[in-house]
Amino acid sequence: MSPFHLTRTLPEDATDAALRADVLSGLTGTPKTLPPKWFYDAHGSDLFERITELPEYYPTRAEREILVARSGEIAAAARARTLVELGSGSSEKTRYLLDALDGLHTYVPVDVSESALTQAGHALLAERPGLQVHALIADFTVSLALPDTPGPRLIAFLGGTIGNLVPAERAVFLASVRSLLSPGDALLLGTDLVKEEKTLVEAYDDASGVTAAFNKNVLSVVNRELHADFDPDAFDHVALWDTENEWIEMRLRSRREQTVKIPGVDLAVDFTEGEELRTEVSAKFRKEGVRAELAAAGLELTRWWTDEAGRFALSLSVAR
Ligand code: SAH
Ligand code: AVI
Repeated sequence: MSPFHLTRTLPEDATDAALRADVLSGLTGTPKTLPPKWFYDAHGSDLFERITELPEYYPTRAEREILVARSGEIAAAARARTLVELGSGSSEKTRYLLDALDGLHTYVPVDVSESALTQAGHALLAERPGLQVHALIADFTVSLALPDTPGPRLIAFLGGTIGNLVPAERAVFLASVRSLLSPGDALLLGTDLVKEEKTLVEAYDDASGVTAAFNKNVLSVVNRELHADFDPDAFDHVALWDTENEWIEMRLRSRREQTVKIPGVDLAVDFTEGEELRTEVSAKFRKEGVRAELAAAGLELTRWWTDEAGRFALSLSVAR
């Protein structure tokens, strides 16, 4: 059996239908919104990797610091034979877990980005020819069918990507994660932590403009897939801290009054000058909030680790 399988859980036309539905509802609502999962075509996935190397974007470095220090403890507690990773991207930090998990049978990276999955899969197999990799092109917010591989199962959700879901979406998502776990299985969750506003805003509005390009990439995706005529230069990148919700919000602000045509959904969308389109929230967390959200889904937080500077946390929780 080849050690690399790539499975598309949804046919490509279902992905197109999902984009059309999101564009139709998001751009006809008030305020206008688009879900962040549409950032990640091949170019968007590359831009995200560049973000992880920016001096202002601390979460990746902070989470890597925790994984370097704690992967042995995580592996000893989880004793996983199957590691499932949601929103795996480049799987770059996952290497520390893969190294520590003695007896691992299969790694199941799950992502909407086919380019990220194939690049990561081939890079991993070049280093670990014996590892079984069963990659899934899938939306982790839609119920997942995981391959039938040996337990215990560890589900990793790294990078703080859970913060890109709003609270109601997180509750549904965590309940569905819980349904994939048997007693003795565990969830390893990365959460970025609340901190001073300046550090947070700079992480999402870097001086070199990579995050601005990442934000505007969603317009290029809609242009390509739905034949729209968005002019990315007609929008400004905006990142602001919402103190009430404790999340960063990324928006695209129309520089002028304009009408954008989107033939793929038979729509013309009017923007007033200064009107903003919300493209992402990135929630920041506190330990007790994470514990409560996990508990509401039937997961018990058992371990909590942060980096030295206390910027980011990894938690391990088990199915009750
Ligand atoms: N875990 C990696 C990548 C984080 S970037 C890290 O920590 O660096 C977020 C990743 O989640 C991207 O690879 C993106 O394609 C994927 N993603 C975003 N929304 C998704 C969804 N709804 N379903 C599956 N993957 C998703
Ligand atoms: C993937 N996710 C956790 C990133 C974040 O920090 O919310 C996406 C991102 N958006 C802007 N920069 C990075």
